Amino acid sequence: MNPQPETSVLFSRQEIEATVNRLASELNRDYHRKHPILIGVLKGSFMFMADLIRLLDFPVEVEFIRLSSYGGGKESVGKIKVVHGLRTPIKGRDVLVIEDIVDTGRTINFLLEYLRRKRPASVKLCALTDKPSRRQIPVTIDYLGLTVPNEFLVGYGLDWDEKFRNLPDMCVLEGEE
Ligand code: PRP
Repeated sequence: MNPQPETSVLFSRQEIEATVNRLASELNRDYHRKHPILIGVLKGSFMFMADLIRLLDFPVEVEFIRLSSYGGGKESVGKIKVVHGLRTPIKGRDVLVIEDIVDTGRTINFLLEYLRRKRPASVKLCALTDKPSRRQIPVTIDYLGLTVPNEFLVGYGLDWDEKFRNLPDMCVLEGEE
């Protein structure tokens, strides 16, 4: 079996919790009279989504979508595809997309176009982390948690080769970029 690379903590579980609390407060302020559909982008957003929605004090519906942009490794393999699409209509609805990280921006750019073609009333983006140093396509993040450096990050839902998603802290994978 291959040895596991080392990890070091970038954002502790306490820092993540404080960030999720702040984002939930912002959403509670802006959506308190609304009934949005939250769309989590699998797989990376599952932990963030689970923590975030427990703090929301307005009615929500939860959906997931799965896109493929990376292969088994860590680099983009080109064309983005919908692996698991939406199973519910969003026409006329307020939609809030929940992402774990915006990196090049290619995934979220594709997703926002996919969603807007379905004519929702509004589409906003809530991202736990943003890595602007890697951006290829401009992205407006309406609710942003943390800006992160150009390091390979794992934990709190983020993976390396499908590993490390379960780490409760967000960590840097040593020796990777
Ligand atoms: C990650 C992350 C975002 C996307 C961001 O997903 O969850 O969806 O990459 O990268 P980009 O801005 O460069 O497009 P990934 O494709 O690794 O799948 P996963 O969520 O299943 O880990």
